[in-house]
Amino acid sequence: MKTLLVSGPDGVRQAAALLAAGELAALPTETVYGLGASALDPIACARIFEAKQRPLSDPLIVHIPDESWLYRLADPVGCALDLALTFWPGPLTMVLPRSAEVPDIVTSGQDTVALRRSAHPVFQQVATAFGQPIAAPSANRFGRISPTSAAHVLEELDGAIPLILDGGPCSHGIESTIVAVEEHGLRILRHGPITEEQLSAFAPILSGSSDIAAPGNLKSHYAPRTPLTIADPSTPPPGRIGLLAFTAPVDGYAEVECLSPDGDLREAASRLFAAMRRLDNAGLDAIIAEPIPESGLGVAIMERLRKAAARE
Ligand code: TXA
Ligand code: MG
Repeated sequence: MKTLLVSGPDGVRQAAALLAAGELAALPTETVYGLGASALDPIACARIFEAKQRPLSDPLIVHIPDESWLYRLADPVGCALDLALTFWPGPLTMVLPRSAEVPDIVTSGQDTVALRRSAHPVFQQVATAFGQPIAAPSANRFGRISPTSAAHVLEELDGAIPLILDGGPCSHGIESTIVAVEEHGLRILRHGPITEEQLSAFAPILSGSSDIAAPGNLKSHYAPRTPLTIADPSTPPPGRIGLLAFTAPVDGYAEVECLSPDGDLREAASRLFAAMRRLDNAGLDAIIAEPIPESGLGVAIMERLRKAAARE
């Protein structure tokens, strides 16, 4: 299959037409690029699993065109409506009890559905033109680094999907926060741009076991092919080693990526996956990643680094 790279109003029309025809289209969002299909069309959703080589046990996030779908596809329990009014459109995904309208393939047969409304103007144009919810996981092959530009998507899925809609680089650069909303509290299933501090203003943050788990939360994920270790970078190990530094480079490394010279966590998050991808493509023996302070967005960045470092 030939993969077309398109942009602009014509690209938006082409993407919406493919979705309506039950085909796939890679789309920009403010977090990472998504691989979209019509969420109410189970065959179209099956194509996502096929193209990504993703196990069917790993459910999909449904991106809704407007808030009315919150009631149609889910039961907005607890503070779900408040969260939607505050953080949508934006980088927050809510896991809620599902309605019967959501196909089983989307939820992997679970009784919950993950919903989000993207703030990306190009994504919104496609959602409005299509007029239906769009199932979209990150547009990478299963277990690999999430794409934050159209070129990354091409690197991952060239020949496996018909179209990539280029909407420029993603502003957040890491995936949405996923929160399971329960009657009396919230469980953070994946840390992201909306922080625990922000969410705790709405309901108690619950921890410990729950019926709801993010099945895609494997220990190893976002994995570069080059071995990555989180460590103090001050003494470079022998070999051709790359450094993923937070603020400042260190001498003695073959390749260096600095996430944010000013120590700005937003900038660091937005550059993280592109920097990992570049180092991964640089023919290195290993990558050392410098630890990031774990407060605010730093929690989400360290979660991604630990998964990139995990080998099983
Ligand atoms: O920012 C994002 O969330 C991006 C953009 C494209 O929207 N999407 C994304 O999708 O990161 P994906 O599939 O790569 O990650 C979604 C995670 C998976 O780990 C999946 O297991 C979990 O969400 N998930 C989906 N539905 C769920 C549900 N009903 N209950 C618990 N976890 C769910
Ligand atoms: Mg993903």
